[in-house]
Amino acid sequence: MRIAIFGGSFNPPHRGHLNSAVYAQAQLQPEHFLVIPDHQPPHKSLEVGSPSPEERLELCRRNFATVPNVEISDIEIRRGGKSYTVDTLKALLQQYPDAEFYLLLGTDMLLDLGRWYRAEFILQHVTVAPFQRCAEELPYIEAKAAELKERFGARVEIIRSEPFPAASTDIRALLRARGGTPLLTDDVYAYIIKRRLYGAKVDFAWLREKSYAMLKPNRVAHVRGCEQEAVSLAKRWGADADDAAEAAILHDCTKKEKLEGQLALCAKYGYEPDPLEKLSEKLLHAKTGAALAREEFGVSAQVEDAIRWHTTGRPGMTLLEKIIYMADYIEPTREFDGVETLRALAYADLDRAMLLGLEMSIEENERNGNRIHANSVEARDWFAGQVQEKEDTQ
Ligand SMILES: [Fe+2]
Ligand SMILES: [Fe+2]
Repeated sequence: MRIAIFGGSFNPPHRGHLNSAVYAQAQLQPEHFLVIPDHQPPHKSLEVGSPSPEERLELCRRNFATVPNVEISDIEIRRGGKSYTVDTLKALLQQYPDAEFYLLLGTDMLLDLGRWYRAEFILQHVTVAPFQRCAEELPYIEAKAAELKERFGARVEIIRSEPFPAASTDIRALLRARGGTPLLTDDVYAYIIKRRLYGAKVDFAWLREKSYAMLKPNRVAHVRGCEQEAVSLAKRWGADADDAAEAAILHDCTKKEKLEGQLALCAKYGYEPDPLEKLSEKLLHAKTGAALAREEFGVSAQVEDAIRWHTTGRPGMTLLEKIIYMADYIEPTREFDGVETLRALAYADLDRAMLLGLEMSIEENERNGNRIHANSVEARDWFAGQVQEKEDTQ
């Protein structure tokens, strides 16, 4: 049986690793393809703040899911400490005494291989399979292969692969700058965002795509408008425009669900709806949207709260909460009597606009025979107090 061994830190695993695995699989046709994330590389430490070993395992599962015969092995992670290839190889030789092993590695690793701990033992038991990612690499690889053959009697089989424009280090930097998406598989990026690994900030284009896919098509224009309005309100009032964009993009992400679906989401995310919410998908979509944004997209507590309170409002609303409530109300596609007044007020005096908005919303709900949630009434009264206080001091 042929077994390919592909080790590394995979911090994070990316499309370059996947391409290499696919080329190796095609060329070597191993019956078993072992991806082995290390616990700790022998000669360096993982960057501070790197994901936990379990998270890197999950990232690998997602990254290599399409490789035939793949197994993501936790052998080095379970063993702990520094991950020496020789220790892993000894364990694998015991587990698979009759197997033929191929050790996949990048050119940089190959150049260093003669100095690895117990290199001789390793080279007696595996065929080294370096990736050749471009034509210029070939002379170096061939020279090194000749040297290893000479010194250790090594067997070398070069894997023709393709160039990849970035390394994991570059990708970590890109993730912090809202980039990196084209270099990662969608599943890997989604997990990084879900847990905000590497200090990742979300790529807005990616987030819009995910959000719009959850909406009914006729709601997309509203969510676009809401984002635009939220960003301009944030700039007007000195709030974080990126938080405003993130909250606006996701604010209606569960809006499509009817009551049954809303209640299922409550159960999934552990939210206990109050008696009035239990009857109203409209009230619930703000609560389930906030929970989904937190659990699936790793949003901050401020962004989560802005989504949570965008339908009813609440007393003591934060600036971001007011902005999302108001943007939802007055974004450019909204048309109703009084919208122009409300728009103007939102840029002149946000608390007054909130008071007016809450009054209008309560009135409209009363007209339609809906029961009014206590949060809305309390929010209206709170803003009335704020506005009064401001008048008294003027
Ligand atoms: Fe909404
Ligand atoms: Fe909305």
